[in-house]
Amino acid sequence: MPDPVIPPFPGAPKRHSHFNNWISAIGAVLAVAALFSFALLVWVDFTQGEKNPYLGILTYIVAPAFLIMGLAAVFGGAIAQRRWMVKHAQVPDKWRLDFSDDRHRRWLVVFGIGAAVFIMLSAFGSYKTYHYSESVQFCGQVCHAAMNPEFVTYQRGAHARVDCVGCHVGSGAQYFVKAKLNGTHQLIAFTLDNYKRPIETPIKNLRPAQDTCEKCHWPQKFAGNVEINFEHFLSDKKNTAFEARLLLHVNKSVPGSPIGGIHWHVSPNDRVEYFAADEKRQDIPWMRVTNTKDGTSKVFRTAAFKGEPSADQIRVMDCMDCHNRPAHTFPTANEAIEKSLSAGTLSTKLANIKRVAVQAMTQKEITTAAEAPQKIADFVKAKYTDAALAAELPGAIAEIQRVFSQTIFPDRKADWRIYPNNIGHKDWPGCFRCHDDKHKTTAGLAVRSSDCTSCHTILTQGKGSELESLSAKGLTFKHPGGELDPDLTCADCHNGGIQK
Ligand code: HEC
Ligand code: HEC
Ligand code: HEC
Ligand code: HEC
Ligand code: HEC
Ligand code: HEC
Repeated sequence: MPDPVIPPFPGAPKRHSHFNNWISAIGAVLAVAALFSFALLVWVDFTQGEKNPYLGILTYIVAPAFLIMGLAAVFGGAIAQRRWMVKHAQVPDKWRLDFSDDRHRRWLVVFGIGAAVFIMLSAFGSYKTYHYSESVQFCGQVCHAAMNPEFVTYQRGAHARVDCVGCHVGSGAQYFVKAKLNGTHQLIAFTLDNYKRPIETPIKNLRPAQDTCEKCHWPQKFAGNVEINFEHFLSDKKNTAFEARLLLHVNKSVPGSPIGGIHWHVSPNDRVEYFAADEKRQDIPWMRVTNTKDGTSKVFRTAAFKGEPSADQIRVMDCMDCHNRPAHTFPTANEAIEKSLSAGTLSTKLANIKRVAVQAMTQKEITTAAEAPQKIADFVKAKYTDAALAAELPGAIAEIQRVFSQTIFPDRKADWRIYPNNIGHKDWPGCFRCHDDKHKTTAGLAVRSSDCTSCHTILTQGKGSELESLSAKGLTFKHPGGELDPDLTCADCHNGGIQK
């Protein structure tokens, strides 16, 4: 016999769900909003070609966190309601939503509209946040303290219109996941203020050049000869100008034929690999050139290096091994001041100003950006006591202070001394890391193209009227610092500051 259905005795409070309360309702709205945002972000995640590391944080950390919070409130509200009911039999409905109560009903309408608006806004907001986090502003300015030097140096480079994520994240699943994890890690490190100063390079999980640089530049593209004019001023009393106009043999060969010249390293027919003994990849004792067609290879090594690098220590050379500062060049103090002198923003009327300006910028006493202007001003004033020059001083000091603020970042410990530029060989080892007479094959062959004319031709050099005639054949370099010592590399003396 079935149990008789016992009707609730008259007067007993009507049974209702514990979920029927304001706390749970608010929690539910939060959860729905989070779910909605999550769905939208996942959709963005799968449809957007260009990925950004912070999308991952938003989608898989922030949105679910809100979802969990919402659900916690839903269940928390129900539990609290039940507890209350058990304890207070007289007034069991503390937070209950009572649909029969007019006041509650009115509130419910307001609440419903509010909830709908909130859900829409949160989805919209998370989409906006996503776009914002991708922007150059977010990378360079919100993470201001951490990334400011990169942002400042980026703005004056050739890539100022390329988004940070264009090189640092790019597209493709595998690196996206890496960048996503890395981005999360960076954000956490930044929030906790324990990121490294300086930020270490080389960046280990930077995307391979094929996926970043080669989206816009391709190695097969014929670049021909590239002309660069190097303008210098000596650190003598007269700030004597010295110019050298070079034709760099980026591609020596004719268009269509295999890449020769400087870009030969990234030609599809040959693979250059190397082993660096240090973190910064400045000391390269071993390298291997493999012909990708027939598989033959030759190994060059320095006499001092006896071992054999293991497979994971070997790096295949790509664009970034030469162009390691495509977007953030930290010019040397020497170079930055020379730029001001040639632009005329720093007056050459002041005797020795080149030397004084570089020395002012490289004072050991400057340890924070805040104290730099004063210390620079004091240093320069002390050097020029002649009243006749007093009118030139304020302008010169302001210019040196400006140059300092754009190129040296003591708080982040970021400047050229930390971040070498591998493109040349004057102030850093650069090409001479491999192109010297010290790397030899077992047969005793040195690296070809290591004499002064294989990478470039000097069209003209000197100052004033000396610059009026060009030599198509190329000139021998007339070193302003005296006869060149073949046992010394340029970077043994040149360090971006004043030579000793
Ligand atoms: C044209 C490509 C490119 C663009 C655009 C770019 N970067 Fe870089 N970035 C690089 C390369 C290459 C390195 C050096 C990697 C190495 O040495 O391992 C680097 C290094 C860095 C470093 C490490 C510290 C340093 O100075 O080497 C930070 C931080 C950085 N970039 C932030 C940014 C920010 C912020 C933006 C946008 C404002 C940006 N990058 C835009 C290519 C780029
Ligand atoms: C989104 C497209 C884009 C990407 C990605 C990109 N570049 Fe560029 N790059 C450009 C453009 C555009 C210019 C020309 C700018 C100009 O003429 O002012 C340029 C100029 C250059 C130049 C010559 C101009 C100069 O003064 O530096 C070099 C070298 C260069 N890029 C290297 C690189 C390297 C290395 C990478 C990868 C780390 C890279 N680029 C990634 C678009 C890109
Ligand atoms: C062996 C070093 C080396 C490698 C590797 C290398 N480059 Fe270059 N590249 C140079 C030099 C040197 C120049 C001449 C300009 C200079 O000295 O700043 C140059 C010039 C360029 C220019 C400028 C051409 C112009 O008309 O101004 C672009 C763009 C460029 N490289 C892109 C790339 C890309 C992309 C890769 C990788 C596929 C690459 N390079 C690999 C050394 C290298
Ligand atoms: C990691 C080592 C390494 C670095 C760094 C390097 N090179 Fe090379 N380069 C080589 C090797 C190896 C060869 C081939 C040598 C041989 O076969 O004898 C070569 C060959 C060349 C050639 C001859 C290409 C041809 O047409 O046959 C030129 C030009 C050249 N390099 C210029 C440069 C310049 C400019 C730089 C700096 C921006 C540079 N290299 C940096 C390793 C390097
Ligand atoms: C492996 C290739 C290579 C060899 C060998 C080489 N250079 Fe260079 N050199 C370069 C490159 C690349 C640059 C351009 C750097 C840049 O774009 O800033 C350069 C720049 C220069 C400059 C201008 C630097 C400045 O800041 O004024 C001078 C001068 C120069 N080289 C002289 C020499 C002399 C002298 C030799 C022989 C001892 C030599 N080079 C050998 C690749 C080479
Ligand atoms: C023995 C040390 C020494 C070596 C090695 C050396 N230089 Fe210099 N160099 C000097 C001195 C000293 C000056 C004069 C500096 C001044 O008056 O500002 C100078 C001036 C220069 C200048 C003009 C001014 C400037 O500061 O840029 C250039 C360009 C230059 N050297 C290029 C080179 C190149 C390229 C190499 C390698 C092939 C090289 N130097 C090797 C000591 C050296």
